[in-house]
Amino acid sequence: MSNLDRSSQPGRVIRYRLEAGEVDWEIAPGHTVRGYGFNGQVPGPVLEAKQGVPLEIEFTNRLPEPTVIHWHGLRIPAEMDGTEVVQRLIQPGETFTYRFTPPDAGTFWYHPHANETEQLEKGLYGALIVRAADELALDGEKILVFDDLRTDKRGQIAKFGGLKDRHNGREGNVRLINGRSEPELAIAAGQIERWRIVNASSARYVRLSLGGVPFQILGTDGGFIEAPVSAEEVLLPPGDRVELAVGPFDKEGELLDIADLPYYRLAGKKGVERFGAIRIAPRQPSTAHVPERLREIAPLVTDTAKVTRTVTLGFKMSLRRGLDFVVNGERHHHDKPVNVGDMQVWDVVNATMMDHPFHLHGFFFQVLEIDGNKPAWRSLEDVINVPPKATVRIAWYPDDRPGMWMYHCHILEHHAAGMMGHFEVKRP
Ligand code: C2O
Ligand code: CU
Repeated sequence: MSNLDRSSQPGRVIRYRLEAGEVDWEIAPGHTVRGYGFNGQVPGPVLEAKQGVPLEIEFTNRLPEPTVIHWHGLRIPAEMDGTEVVQRLIQPGETFTYRFTPPDAGTFWYHPHANETEQLEKGLYGALIVRAADELALDGEKILVFDDLRTDKRGQIAKFGGLKDRHNGREGNVRLINGRSEPELAIAAGQIERWRIVNASSARYVRLSLGGVPFQILGTDGGFIEAPVSAEEVLLPPGDRVELAVGPFDKEGELLDIADLPYYRLAGKKGVERFGAIRIAPRQPSTAHVPERLREIAPLVTDTAKVTRTVTLGFKMSLRRGLDFVVNGERHHHDKPVNVGDMQVWDVVNATMMDHPFHLHGFFFQVLEIDGNKPAWRSLEDVINVPPKATVRIAWYPDDRPGMWMYHCHILEHHAAGMMGHFEVKRP
């Protein structure tokens, strides 16, 4: 938040126009599917914002169905959160202008919050980058939006529905980076790039590996972590983001797989799957410097903080619908209000046998414990995986942005089947 005043330039507004509509989406050379896009493309354009500078997005719905646009991860006023609980759905032909000032630098994304299981699968999503005034620049930057798509025998988007997808979430047979099937990306030998990665898949957990070569994790949902962490893989549940420093690579001409390693979540892929490749291009000089400290994150609460709420993610058989996903036993749970200024410590309990990525709208949380264990680093998150039968303890601070907010599982089919809660943030 310390950058806010420096970068704030009153009177300056960054404006975008977005239009959602049907598109012919070329997922591979010569292979086009009929989908949905923003401004005729999948993903939608990268929206470039500046920390503390007002952003105005004039959105027009040219889809044959209503929609609404959610700004995933942004701590903005409730009225601008873009969900059905804070605004009327935007009907075909209508325009709605979103206005807000992004308070945090980081990698975010935007997507519909109506008929999500179909609208996102059809291609409605895009990255939103908020840059700090003193943004860390390495030798280059890539913004990579991961997704998977299920196609049928004709190569078109497979039809929707079915109990199996309602239970498992829909995974696809085509793996995409920035809307293209298994693309080849280039990075010059000797250079270090900053990669911003979003997992826009409906249900796929991406256990990302870059040819098994170590990279550095710089940030997560809410921007930088405190210090870079070296890793050979990182897990991105649906909705999640990560920022990496990638490189330097040595061997010009080498080809490394951008792979999704096996992740057992009781459903979906079981083997190693390929999202794309990295081609090591001819060597270039480097001026990149990855700092040893990235920022300080003050802990929100002490170890003895007491739990203020328990959110239990559950599963139920249903005579009418086959099965439901629930929170505290209820579909689309109406949760108790939260007072502005009252620190929240929540136990998110997974009572099921599958993983669920828990997402909180509009506020970052800190993860205090995962089944009693401290996480490896302190970070600001809006998505956290809750493993089967595990409890994740989080803390978050309701600052003065009253209104209706929500949390939900980011496996889109689970959200649709009821694994969500909405609650009011109130001034006491
Ligand atoms: Cu990407 Cu309701 O969220
Ligand atoms: Cu779920």
